[in-house]
Amino acid sequence: MSILSLVDVEKIYVRGAIKVSALKKVSLEIEEGDFVAIVGPSGSGKSTLLNVIGGLDRPTSGKIILKGEDLSELSEDDLARIRMEEIGFIFQQYNLIHTMDSLENVSLPLYFAGVGKKKRLEKAKLLLEQMGLGDRLYHKPNELSGGEQQRVAIARALVNNPKIILGDEPTGNIDSQAGTMIIDILKELNMENRTIIIVTHDMEIAKKTQYIIRMRDGMIIN
Ligand SMILES: Nc1ncnc2c1ncn2[C@@H]1O[C@H](COP(=O)(O)OP(=O)(O)OP(=O)(O)O)[C@@H](O)[C@H]1O
Ligand SMILES: [Mg+2]
Repeated sequence: MSILSLVDVEKIYVRGAIKVSALKKVSLEIEEGDFVAIVGPSGSGKSTLLNVIGGLDRPTSGKIILKGEDLSELSEDDLARIRMEEIGFIFQQYNLIHTMDSLENVSLPLYFAGVGKKKRLEKAKLLLEQMGLGDRLYHKPNELSGGEQQRVAIARALVNNPKIILGDEPTGNIDSQAGTMIIDILKELNMENRTIIIVTHDMEIAKKTQYIIRMRDGMIIN
């Protein structure tokens, strides 16, 4: 069984008199352990697709079935729970909290999951060490390089042990050497049987995944 399937997913944004069909009846099957890159021109719907998959946004119509559960039938609370338990997000802009150091940023999702302080800090420290950041535990985001910030963000995405990792241009803001390191980390996570879906503009990055999904004008073209 697929870990994720989309059936005729549409997303229409309405702003006043202007309607944008960001996704036009997109259907897709992702198997557990897949490592996929989504590519396509700006405005083709890549971020919209990732956001509806991750439950950050709801489709206008169609079904999204994640591990057998239809996301469109879930309440906001249940959707938030699935997002927390099953999905790790990585963003182009890292989205770290600037007043918090690496340890605090990584342990924050555990706080929301109700984990006690000692356990939170232990787990966050372990993950940061695995990301090669054992000597950056008390640095704040503005004291870290782009590649380091993204590794903190990956540690944060992993802290609830999600089976699915979604990245929207995770290497978009960093140089190619740091980008290669990020992709190598994602490859290792994929080897642990995590399912990984990233959006990228960079064909060199896309080629390192198992397969490429091409989008144009709100549709998957192959
Ligand atoms: N919140 C929104 N409200 C209205 N229109 C939106 C919204 N978000 C996206 N759109 C529109 O939907 C279309 C798809 O946007 P999306 O962000 O998914 O593209 P993308 O493929 O990620 O592009 P890029 O490569 O530039 O990030 C675009 O035409 C965009 O203008
Ligand atoms: Mg985008």
